[in-house]
Amino acid sequence: MAADSELFPVITPIIKWAGGKKKLAPTIEQAASNQIDFSTIDTYVEPFAGGASMLLYLATKYHFKHQVILDINPELINLYRQVRDHLTDLMTGLTTIQATYNDLPDLTTQKENFYAVRSAFNQGILVDEASVDQAVRFMFLNKTDFNGLYRVNSKGTFNVPFGQRKQVNLFEPANLTNFSQLLQNTEILLGDYHQTAQYAGPKTFFYFDPPYRPLTDSASFTSYAKSTFNDDAQVELATFTQQLAAKGAHFALSNSDPHQSDPDDNFFDDLYADFTIQRIQAARMISARAKGRGNVSELLVTH
Ligand SMILES: C[S@@+](CC[C@H](N)C(=O)[O-])C[C@H]1O[C@@H](n2cnc3c(N)ncnc32)[C@H](O)[C@@H]1O
Repeated sequence: MAADSELFPVITPIIKWAGGKKKLAPTIEQAASNQIDFSTIDTYVEPFAGGASMLLYLATKYHFKHQVILDINPELINLYRQVRDHLTDLMTGLTTIQATYNDLPDLTTQKENFYAVRSAFNQGILVDEASVDQAVRFMFLNKTDFNGLYRVNSKGTFNVPFGQRKQVNLFEPANLTNFSQLLQNTEILLGDYHQTAQYAGPKTFFYFDPPYRPLTDSASFTSYAKSTFNDDAQVELATFTQQLAAKGAHFALSNSDPHQSDPDDNFFDDLYADFTIQRIQAARMISARAKGRGNVSELLVTH
């Protein structure tokens, strides 16, 4: 672990992301510390990165020699690569797109602007474009669409509607700059989490935050990308964590707690019986029904 002077200031996630762990990160770190001595860790791996809240929080407390983040969403990964490698161009693009939107006279013209950007973004998806412009559009849509959702249809087209905001603030320059600094020693990978197996070793810590197993049918928000994460996928992930543990790696894994809706549902207790399971309190933000809001317990599996 490095001296305190090398630790990062608080950096907030640069995008809104369903299932984001910004609020829960300190609780997760504390619970994980019961089992894991973070001062022995030199490689941090986050295979379901999303907004990367856990990396951002841990960077205020620990200095890892090597960091790896991965996600299956190509647009998100393109954004992070642009933040790391082309920060100035990204900020210029964001400043321009924000000023254009904020200077429009009313919501009618802003709505037209939103749908024009959405259409350009979808063209970018179709040609598999990795560019600063596409990253700018991605951040713009994230802050101007309905509720900061990212959702694609079966053809992979982004289809979240206009969010009706009159003024938007797409980024905080100091925050984005600090994030870019943090990403300098970070490998940013696109694809499936299995790719991260190569980093497993006694000094590696993995944080897994997969799409949650729905507590009820109505709460099945799993479409971050063109894939869904069903029970078979949860079982496969558990097998993966066993393989990592066999190589001496440490990990923490978040998921929903089925006991909330069905005390007899022991899906995760059975799946992770070889590891430690803690139940932690969380405020769930995204839910299809009001019934699903409020404080719920979540699972944290650690090894
Ligand atoms: C619950 S979110 C992670 C949220 C994140 N911890 C945060 O604080 O913002 C789950 C993420 O897993 C990604 N994902 C889904 N399936 C995946 C897979 N098979 N491999 C890697 N990432 C995947 C999704 O794109 C999504 O960003």
